[in-house]
Amino acid sequence: MKIPFHTLIKVNFNILYMDKKKIFITRKINSRGIELLNKYYDVVLANSSDSPTKKVMIKKVKNVYGILCTLSEKIDADIMNAAGSNLKVISTYSTGYDHIDVCEATKRGIYVTTTGNILSEATADLTFALILTISRKILEGHLYIIEGKWKKGWTPDLFLGTNIYGSTLGILGLGDIGSAVAKRANGFNMNIIYNNRHRLSKSRENKLNATFVTFEKLLENSDFLSIHTNFDKKNFHLIDIRELQKMKKTSFLINTSRGSIINEISLIKALKNRWIAGAGLDVFETEPISNQYELSKLKNVILLPHIGSATVQTRERMSKVAAINLHTILSNKKPLNLVNRELLQNLC
Ligand code: DGY
Repeated sequence: MKIPFHTLIKVNFNILYMDKKKIFITRKINSRGIELLNKYYDVVLANSSDSPTKKVMIKKVKNVYGILCTLSEKIDADIMNAAGSNLKVISTYSTGYDHIDVCEATKRGIYVTTTGNILSEATADLTFALILTISRKILEGHLYIIEGKWKKGWTPDLFLGTNIYGSTLGILGLGDIGSAVAKRANGFNMNIIYNNRHRLSKSRENKLNATFVTFEKLLENSDFLSIHTNFDKKNFHLIDIRELQKMKKTSFLINTSRGSIINEISLIKALKNRWIAGAGLDVFETEPISNQYELSKLKNVILLPHIGSATVQTRERMSKVAAINLHTILSNKKPLNLVNRELLQNLC
């Protein structure tokens, strides 16, 4: 009996398809990585760029070998259980990995990878955008014009801001992003002080022109205090009432790291009572925030919707790296940015 041509194609395709390992990409990210992974895997891709619910994820992860997720999806034991014993890698499309239960993953021999430092420059740029916008009243000036309020031309005391040039920048967490911020701050002739879990080498400090100070001194002496430390349980609400009261009344708090490092209720109090002059925030304790939230109603804040790494070039690179990390692990090779390095010995 002659088999029709279209049936043959279907059969062959199915054989090929069955050979491919199943992986899950939690939402539509930059297509670069998806295209790469499509070549080698049976990709289960959510059909939206929105973050899926836990219920949806539990359904979709069944029998997958790899999960490519973003920082909005909590990858915990329930998700790992739902995936089953095939699961070998969780590759996140982010530098932060506080949304993944790394301890649980390590226990199960599941590798956790991140996009590493490729978003440092973009995030440092955005940090400076916040510093400039909040201290030089850039948004107010723009609104003043487009709302038709600029009637008198140049005015001696219109939108008086605060000097950036020559002021003191305090960096909490002088890792890759903090260092990229320090490099920019040198161009502004800022006096750079920092506090870190581990003090940097003398040569690194000299290169960045940064002086190590205690956490207390950092709070007391910064004109701009910029947070770049990783988030974990140890620094939950690290900046609270006591810390905000130690800061200068003229200072600005900048956060492009993770919202939960600051107690937002305390920050709202500090901003209302003018314990500090203002804040520039790209991250929040719970995201998204609404325009009804108290922070959104304050005049001395600049708020952004978590866009630190949001440039076309950076997102493309993040997508590529996240895909390569996943593929590298499933090929039993060492990836670029492994979080649970204790598992490294199992790879070639
Ligand atoms: C990260 O990668 O951790 C950023 O916050 C996302 O842009």
